Amino acid sequence: MNLYDKYVLPHLLNCSCNTKPFVLQREKVIPLAKGKVLEVGIGSGLNLPFYEKGNIEEIWGLDPSEELLLMAKKKAKTEHMDVQFLNASAESIELDDNFFDTVIVTYTMCTISNLNQALSEMKRVMKTDGRLIFCEHGASPEQEVFTWQNRMNNVWSKISGGCNINKDIPSIIESSGLVVSQLETMYLPKTPKMLGYNYWGFAVLND
Ligand SMILES: C[S@@+](CC[C@H](N)C(=O)[O-])C[C@H]1O[C@@H](n2cnc3c(N)ncnc32)[C@H](O)[C@@H]1O
Repeated sequence: MNLYDKYVLPHLLNCSCNTKPFVLQREKVIPLAKGKVLEVGIGSGLNLPFYEKGNIEEIWGLDPSEELLLMAKKKAKTEHMDVQFLNASAESIELDDNFFDTVIVTYTMCTISNLNQALSEMKRVMKTDGRLIFCEHGASPEQEVFTWQNRMNNVWSKISGGCNINKDIPSIIESSGLVVSQLETMYLPKTPKMLGYNYWGFAVLND
């Protein structure tokens, strides 16, 4: 890992993902988590303040970045939350099958290298009546914006820790065998269209 990724990127991600448009999105989805919860790509823990604490039985946070996990641990302390942290990638989740009521993932699917493998792991650890709650950015439905997303993706990915701006997130979720049971979309306000097309909703094992 280079110095930029280790020392600069974690702080850039923490700040850029904590702006008002992102906070408003977190407020829409995070309070819907319940029971045994796994947050995949917990990052610096920016979602932690938005959990409805009374609805959570236990909460696990997974991330491959030690630097971001350190920040998330501090956040959990501030929020008086008992989070079990796992320093791991979503492609290999060393947790039991059929365990979580909620798997939650925000602004992370764009960065996971093998998203199909990661989704298959998320499916495996989810209870059969559990749900995946997602809030992600990705491919715009406007052809002109999408063309620019494709043009800029390599450059953007290099400076942003591997984030891709052109993934069609709902299609990828469905190709894993999950069913997207609720989906909302919009451009985030005050955010360049190329970076700000948002999808959020639920995916389940069986409709
Ligand atoms: C833009 S940050 C979002 C963090 C957090 N989910 C949020 O909403 O603020 C992307 C996160 O994906 C994590 N990530 C990258 N590759 C991953 C992988 N293979 N499995 C799980 N998380 C990954 C990064 O370490 C980082 O924490």
